[in-house]
Order: sequence, then C-alpha cells, then structure tokens
Amino acid sequence: MHLAAWRAEPGHHEAALASDGVWVLLLTSGKTAAPELMQDFFPHFKLDELLQASDAHGRKALDVATPGCKAVLASKLYLGGRYELALDQIVHQSATCKVIYALDHSERDEEKEPEGARGLHVAIKFMRNEGQWLQEQSTRRGDAERGLVALGEEFVIGVLRAHNAKEDEQFRKDLEARKLQDYPFVMVMPRADRSLADVLKHEHLAPSPDEVHWAEVRVITQHVVKALVHLHGREIIHGDLKPLNIMRMEKRYLLIDLDAATQFGLPAGAKSSAAFCPPEMVHVDEATGNACIKTPQLLKKPFATIGSARNAAKVIASSYTPIEASPAIDLWGLGVVLFQLCTGRALFDGFSDDTLDNNGLRALASWSDAQAKVRTSEIRNRAARHLVRSLLARDPNDRMPLDRVLAHPFVTDEPILGRLPGEEPFYDAFIGYRVATDQGNVEQLFAALTRLGYRVFWVRCACALFSFRTHLTDAPRCRINCA
Ligand SMILES: Nc1ncnc2c1ncn2[C@@H]1O[C@H](COP(=O)(O)OP(=O)(O)OP(=O)(O)O)[C@@H](O)[C@H]1O
Ligand SMILES: [Mg+2]
Repeated sequence: MHLAAWRAEPGHHEAALASDGVWVLLLTSGKTAAPELMQDFFPHFKLDELLQASDAHGRKALDVATPGCKAVLASKLYLGGRYELALDQIVHQSATCKVIYALDHSERDEEKEPEGARGLHVAIKFMRNEGQWLQEQSTRRGDAERGLVALGEEFVIGVLRAHNAKEDEQFRKDLEARKLQDYPFVMVMPRADRSLADVLKHEHLAPSPDEVHWAEVRVITQHVVKALVHLHGREIIHGDLKPLNIMRMEKRYLLIDLDAATQFGLPAGAKSSAAFCPPEMVHVDEATGNACIKTPQLLKKPFATIGSARNAAKVIASSYTPIEASPAIDLWGLGVVLFQLCTGRALFDGFSDDTLDNNGLRALASWSDAQAKVRTSEIRNRAARHLVRSLLARDPNDRMPLDRVLAHPFVTDEPILGRLPGEEPFYDAFIGYRVATDQGNVEQLFAALTRLGYRVFWVRCACALFSFRTHLTDAPRCRINCA
C-alpha cells in the first residue's frame, strides 16, 4: 500500500479512508505518512471519528500515530496545537473573561499520571481586556527595577504561558474555530482543585455557626494570611479578595485573579467585588441616593451613569476621591471571607458575581463598629470572633495589621492568655485589700456592687499575702476566689 500514490488521484482519498484500517496505516506509516501527506488528507477526515476509532488491538488512533502525524493531528485538534479544551466545562463566564479547563498535550504531569500520561491539566483564562491580561502577568513577574522579585507560586497560582491572538494569526484562527475570538488574550495556569466558594458550598465547612470545622478554617486562614503577607511585602494589594479568588491546590490555598492588584499608594478599585469592599470604598450620592464603588474610571466621567442589566442604570452626579491602595483594603476583604468561613453566611448578600444592589451598597457605606460587634457575636469561637471583629473595623487604621493577624491566637492555635486587645472585660470591678481588718469593708462593698448588677472580681485574701510584686505564677499560693 503506497499512501503517496493516492495523492495523485484526488477522488481516492475518501474511498481509501472509508476502508477498514486505512487510518491506522496512515497514522503509523512512519516516514511515508509524513505530516505533509497528512495535511493532504485532512479535508477528507472526520476528525472526531478518526479519534474514536481503534485498531484490532483496541489502541486509539492518537496513541499509535507516529510523532509527525501526532503533531499534525494536534495542530488540527487542539488550540495552539496543544490545548485540548473541555468546552463542555466552562468554569467561569462573564462579559470580560471565560475560564475553561484543558489538557495541555505538550506537557506531561508525571506525578498525577505516571502511566501513559496524556498531558498536563491546566485552566485557561481567555480575556477581552489586554490591560487586565498584562496586569495579571506583570504583577506575578515582579519588578526588577524596584527590587521586587516574582510572586511565589506557593502563594499565588502562576502563569505557565500567555498567548496574544492579536499577534499570532494561527492562534487567532484557532480561537475563531472555537468561537472564542472575542477573548484574544489568553493565560494558561496550572489547574487548581476547586475554589474556596466551592469548598464552602460542597464540603460543608461551615453549614451553620454551630457546625464549623475550625481546624480547616484555621488552615485556610493561615494560608491566605501568608499569601497576603507575601503580596504586601512587595507593596501590592490583591484588591479583590473573596472565596472565588482563593483556590485549593493539593491542600494549599492560593490566590488567583490579580486583575485588581494595585501598588500601594495608587488609586484602587479599578476592578472590585462590592460584597467584599470596605465601607470607605463606597460613594453615596446624596442628591440621588445612589451609591457606587469608588473606581478611578468613573471619576473621569462627571455625571456618570452606571449599572448593568440587573442593577438598573443609576446616575452618580457628585464626585469623590478614589481610595489609595493600602493593606487596609485586603484586611477588610480578609475579614469578610473569615466571617463567611466562621458562620457559613455572607456578611453582605451579593449577586452571584459579588456585586451589591443600591441598598446593599448603602448598608455597607454606613457600617459601624457597633454593627461589627453585633454581626460577629454569632461566631462561636472566641479567638476567631475577636480576629474577625478586629478586621471589620470601620476605620481602616483600626484594622488589625497582618503581622498581628499572623501572631493572633486563632491563627497560631495557641491558648488565649487573659483578655485579647479590644475585648471587653468580663468583670466590671476588681477589689482587694491590704490589711486584714479591711475585710469587713470589702465584703460590704462587694455586696453593694453586686446588688447593683456589677460583676466583681474579689481577691479574698489580704494583700499582705498577695504582694503586687508577686509574679502572676505565684498567685495560686493566695486563696483567690472569684465571686
Ligand atoms: N488556575 C485555576 N484553576 C482552576 N480554576 C480556576 C483557575 N483560575 C480561575 N479559575 C476559575 O475561574 C474563575 C474565574 O477566574 P478569575 O477569578 O481569574 O476571573 P475573573 O477575573 O474574576 O473574571 P471576571 O473578569 O469575570 O471578573 C475562578 O473563580 C475559578 O473558579
Ligand atoms: Mg475572580
């Protein structure tokens, strides 16, 4: 059988390929079935059928094809000649991007598939906006001029490759064939297992405030806090911290989505998710009662009309000063994420894309520390409650800084010794006395205060025994009774 001979007689292609086993011959003919010849046959292939076909030994076409033939087939089958897209599994779709899982046939995942590995599992982000695509990459790369090294892949999922269909004609055609031409900026990442949003939804991490898996919540908190420390150490805020942007990969929680990442001091909010934005990022237009997130873009357009199909267009007539990127923005986001992990409930009920309606935005704008206290009171774990409350402070300067978050007893899982900063004391008054003869007076004082409803801590021993210089560890030697 001489495949080359068929080339001379055009009508023979289809007949030949219809006959049993010819495709096997074609794919496995080594030198004779050169890629050039394959190309010749392509108009007559039904690729899907070819791939489904197997030879007498049950071997799939692609498995037995020669490397040359495989490469030709891959160029036809796969995006960019390498990515087999799971188009039936579009993980995320919005006006600005699509994320689709794929198998990269040019790479092998030896660990996951030591035997007969077919490729590396990746997640591909197809983006409309070149600026966001560049931002995602440059933030990860760091900035050598400013002495900022690249972001660690143990904290932020890295970019394996990036493609720009505007500069790659074949890639553009490949996108068009898959109806993805509106998303020409492409970023390939290692595929994570699932988002924290999915973990919350499917793994019953915190079905209610009474059923929280504290050990796992602690692990997630540790990983996210360390990732933020890493980012802030490079003077960048994430800017859009939320469960959809935290991914689990091999038991580690990592950040994704650096579209909103901003260098400290620059205007923040170019992209944000209102349900996770701090109150100072909300602008309320008193004239109309309309509220919006302060974005640098909107500011450029006085009397702007904003809105989406869901959120009717609204007019914002007054101007505002955009917020400067500072760690406090991520600290608030962390607080909102932790609140959800600790209660199973969202702090602010947003739409599926984490935006808020006008009422939600106004409620966020009027957030107070008193509300933080009320809302966090449903957190059953004392240390977690204290941490979340400290992050959800109204004033950005009052939010607990990351170095203290890292050392917080909830994060370190150390026992709480005494009262935590900002925690209200259990007792209203402390009474003790120096001389034994004062005991009667103290008894009366104790009775009077308790009658008035005060909680009183009474050291029932004369301070002759309990010197103020006595170290706390000596205290048990005194008979201390709490009334
Ligand atoms: N590396 C990855 N592995 C697995 N899933 C991913 C990965 N990257 C993104 N995803 C999924 O895609 C979703 C959207 O990704 P990403 O957050 O990067 O897009 P986005 O910028 O929020 O999109 P939009 O432009 O619509 O705001 C994530 O919430 C996650 O479910
Ligand atoms: Mg996102």
